[in-house]
Amino acid sequence: EMKRLTIAIDGPAGAGKSTVARRVAEEMGLLYVDTGAMYRAITWKALQSGIDLSDEQGVAGIARETEIELNPPEVRVDGIRVTEAIRSPEVTQHVSKVAKMAEVRRVLVEKQRRLARDGGVVMDGRDIGTHVLPDADVKVFLTASLEERVRRRHLEMIRRGFSSDPDRLYQEIKQRDEMDENRSHSPLRPAADAVIMDTTGRSIDEVVSMILDLCRTKVSGGE
Ligand code: CDP
Ligand code: CDP
Repeated sequence: EMKRLTIAIDGPAGAGKSTVARRVAEEMGLLYVDTGAMYRAITWKALQSGIDLSDEQGVAGIARETEIELNPPEVRVDGIRVTEAIRSPEVTQHVSKVAKMAEVRRVLVEKQRRLARDGGVVMDGRDIGTHVLPDADVKVFLTASLEERVRRRHLEMIRRGFSSDPDRLYQEIKQRDEMDENRSHSPLRPAADAVIMDTTGRSIDEVVSMILDLCRTKVSGGE
């Protein structure tokens, strides 16, 4: 019987985490968990409620009382479908501020660990290998140059029918990465035992097969 693998995929914005993690999960028949969608869901609800986002107690209360359902690619917050709404520029602009809050992270990390309790998951985010699932069987840290990540996001926005300004995207991604890397709780960084993959110039297919190879090595080679 094959062990039900736990795979952690971290990295900065636009590195390809969600695209690649979803594909790897599909190929291996595992559950895909997008933790970024959870931070976005809390940010969306906080913005909806009109609460001041610097009110840390208020935002923490929202995190504790909100039901988040992930049913890839669908996301629901308290039963409301928010799949597209959580990717809005407004949510994107505020999410790293919410993700800095210790109590918000505590609540979401608990949910994430519960989802991964029995293994058989591919989870992507910023702190999965370092904090959420430190015992994951496979840890990947995906990166690409800032310029390439901006280009990918720009093309994606156009494809989804939004207008997109590359200079603004550049500033937004750079600033969000800096906030994620420099916060005190679970900052974005590779785990000591993560395999770092620079995906600059690599296709989605290439990256997916690199990760599948890594998983095969893990299964056949043991520890
Ligand atoms: O898809 P994109 O890279 O734009 O972002 P995301 O993965 O949806 O994550 C949105 C934000 O949530 C990140 O910029 C982080 O501030 C936060 N996040 C986090 O702090 N920890 C995670 N495990 C996942 C996301
Ligand atoms: O989740 P994360 O923010 O790390 O990135 P993503 O949303 O999965 O990928 C951002 C965009 O880059 C998507 O439109 C992908 O199709 C694209 N992409 C790519 O062009 N080449 C790759 N090797 C990976 C992703």
